[in-house]
Amino acid sequence: MEEDSICGKLSDPAGTIRMVSCPFLHTTSAAVRRRGPMQPSVRFPWKHEYTVGNETIDEQHRTLLELAGLLHMAVAAGQGYKIIQNAFAALVKYTEEHFSAEEQFWSSTKSAILDQHKRLHRDITDELLALRFEGPYGVVFCTPNELTNWVQHRLIAHFIEEDQRVYRSLNQGAKRKRTSA
Ligand SMILES: [Fe+2]
Ligand SMILES: [Fe+2]
Repeated sequence: MEEDSICGKLSDPAGTIRMVSCPFLHTTSAAVRRRGPMQPSVRFPWKHEYTVGNETIDEQHRTLLELAGLLHMAVAAGQGYKIIQNAFAALVKYTEEHFSAEEQFWSSTKSAILDQHKRLHRDITDELLALRFEGPYGVVFCTPNELTNWVQHRLIAHFIEEDQRVYRSLNQGAKRKRTSA
């Protein structure tokens, strides 16, 4: 695994996406739990309705929800700056890596849907970055509710609306190619 990547590289040169282990998930989880009287709970559980029908992408989406859950746990428990910052940085990094992997995975398809999808990825990332604010008195992180709003209305909504739509259209395109061959 590369030193500069928390979760490793998500795609290989062949254009396929592979899931990599994310040690930060375990270290952050352990650190967050050690520091406070929190019960580990799954804040953003995976639901079958989120699936896009591609195992690797679904696995990455699951990891995003886990990382968001760890950040929520840290913010809700009022953990110190370092723990919240690490959890936030891990979520930002994995979000960026996942979006980039998804865009590479679909890069062979030239379609207006994909351009629009890339813009959505940028907007969702910007909204995540805005959950950490550097004010005149220092860094301010989002509240647990603000994070929950982003996860439910931006991240999960993106899985079940735009991601599923792109996969459906790619699968239909692949089927058409097979039947016309
Ligand atoms: Fe996605
Ligand atoms: Fe996406």
